Amino acid sequence: MKSDKKAESRVTRRVIVVGGGLAGLTTVVKLCEAGVPVDLFSLVPVKRSHSVCAQGGINASVNTKGEGDSPRIHLEETVYGGDFLANQPPVKGMADAAPGIVYMLDRMGVPFNRTPEGLLDFRRFGGTLFHRTAFAGATTGQQLLYALDEQVRRWETVDVEDDKGLVVRGEKMVRKLEHWDFLGVVQDDAGRCVGIVAQDMKSMDIVAFRGDAVCLATGGPGIVFGRSTNSVINTGTAAAAVYRQGACYANGELIQVHPTAIPGADKLRLISESARGEGGRVWVPKDPKDKRRGREIPQREREYFLEAKYPGYGNLVPRDIASREIFAKCFHEKRGVYNSKTEKNELEVYLDLTHVPKETLRRKLAGILEIYEKFVGEDPYENPMRVFPAVHYSMGGLWVDFEKSGDGGLVRGSPRNQATSIDGLYAAGEVDYQYHGANRLGANSLLSCIYAGLEAGPAIAAYKKNLESSAWDVPESVYEAAERRELDRYKKLLAMDGDENPYRLHQELGETMLRDCTIERDNDTLDGVLAKIDELEDRFAQVGAPDQSDSANHGAQFVRHLSNMLVLARVIATGARARDESRGAHYKPKFPKRDDEAWQRTTLAFYEKGEGKRSAVRFVRELQHSVADQSLTATDAVDVSLVKP
Ligand code: FUM
Repeated sequence: MKSDKKAESRVTRRVIVVGGGLAGLTTVVKLCEAGVPVDLFSLVPVKRSHSVCAQGGINASVNTKGEGDSPRIHLEETVYGGDFLANQPPVKGMADAAPGIVYMLDRMGVPFNRTPEGLLDFRRFGGTLFHRTAFAGATTGQQLLYALDEQVRRWETVDVEDDKGLVVRGEKMVRKLEHWDFLGVVQDDAGRCVGIVAQDMKSMDIVAFRGDAVCLATGGPGIVFGRSTNSVINTGTAAAAVYRQGACYANGELIQVHPTAIPGADKLRLISESARGEGGRVWVPKDPKDKRRGREIPQREREYFLEAKYPGYGNLVPRDIASREIFAKCFHEKRGVYNSKTEKNELEVYLDLTHVPKETLRRKLAGILEIYEKFVGEDPYENPMRVFPAVHYSMGGLWVDFEKSGDGGLVRGSPRNQATSIDGLYAAGEVDYQYHGANRLGANSLLSCIYAGLEAGPAIAAYKKNLESSAWDVPESVYEAAERRELDRYKKLLAMDGDENPYRLHQELGETMLRDCTIERDNDTLDGVLAKIDELEDRFAQVGAPDQSDSANHGAQFVRHLSNMLVLARVIATGARARDESRGAHYKPKFPKRDDEAWQRTTLAFYEKGEGKRSAVRFVRELQHSVADQSLTATDAVDVSLVKP
């Protein structure tokens, strides 16, 4: 039976989207517009998805300020920023779609800042000289997420109709299941993804769900690094789970460090690049032992080191460069802000907005300045802020395919777009690797999340339409077996009674990854990181489950996520060890140059079982996959057909 039906025998045939951030919600909306009913799963209330934390804005070369900006320049700057590691057709698709996306969001009611004439306002962001970033104060992610949430809520009230146009009683186009933790996909005998297994984080029930296709939109893995700008949910667990089930993970080693965050014991809170976009200046005192407070130090006694070294972009150099410069200033030169109590130079530089009119700050940056005041206890309108780089974004993620169009962009509605290497499994948003190469331009992430959703929705609808058989034709025993597999795993996890503390292991993992696998990488040090991951995976076997509760057991969930974080840490560190060059966010001082001959290629990683309980990584140069019975081969060559390196 062809599977393009919405309902058969009054059973609604749905697809599944996991993740309720911008990518997930956009995918859901596009699926509904194509008439495909959806089950939407989210670990947290969708309005608390990590997209809510995005601050500075969303890029689109609308060129309202008459600077000569265009989608072509946006494409070029994105691929230059990503150091030629991004496939260019998807980037072209994204840059071309960007103005339309911003206008669509505006029509949905996003309260974008506007110019006195009533036009959308655009600010500058890193890596470009153009005003290309539309923004809603400094809480842009929240405004976008809430707008898309409203769209999805509307679909939650729309009845599913069967193919004769009759309403299927009690069935709505979107069913939203919040507080469910993704455990893995269900695959049929041919390996096709036909559903998921998930755990209800209130009752702890483990349930298999049918779905004619599945899209993961589960965000990035920042918590692998312990503290980062990411939310605590961003452990990468869903990506790791499907990687363990055979999905390819690409460019894992490409991790972006944001130059400016508030150092904190629990997490590192982002201070948006838009602070520099609105004129913020980065400096350190010329005298490394200067005991005065920042605002008491006169201009001539400050070193504005980014402006001095990069007169073109100044404080808005691409973020990999800004992060490295701040790191070098504090770490190598020991020129960070002096703390007279500890008599040490802290890992902090000043980010100064005190010269910008207060009215401008309130109108454009109030959200982040409130965060600074709340968590640091100082007024950033009057005092330069103290900031340091923090892990922020993963350019790497699940490998996904694309189909190139005649004009060099993407064929909209091709079932290959956003398809992972597991047939029927799609990925969109930070969890995919597609749009940013070796380094993401600021404010391209909200754009890529929405654009990936705009591609994933039609792709999945086309995939579903072409299926020869539906997940609802797969025998029940397949789902029972998948459910049993996860239930057994969970019982084993609860029975773990060793004396290792999982939170301690995570802390050690984070410290190692943060210190040795971020801004500067060295092969001997990375060997140490990999040895530490071996040790942590061995010790993981001796963990004691911290909680036995049969409801809301977040301790058990953390142990599961930790096991997946260890697997992803190995992918990241092994990829970093292998890539002997410097490119984008990946910087090896002993291999300071980009090496296009050897390394202009995507790192393609597959999961292997290692020694004992350890994981291992297998790199390939080519992979075979299929999309709805079409066999395809992909290689690690990067498509640079539009902008030559
Ligand atoms: O700095 C920021 O507001 C972050 C934006 C981004 O990562 O795109």
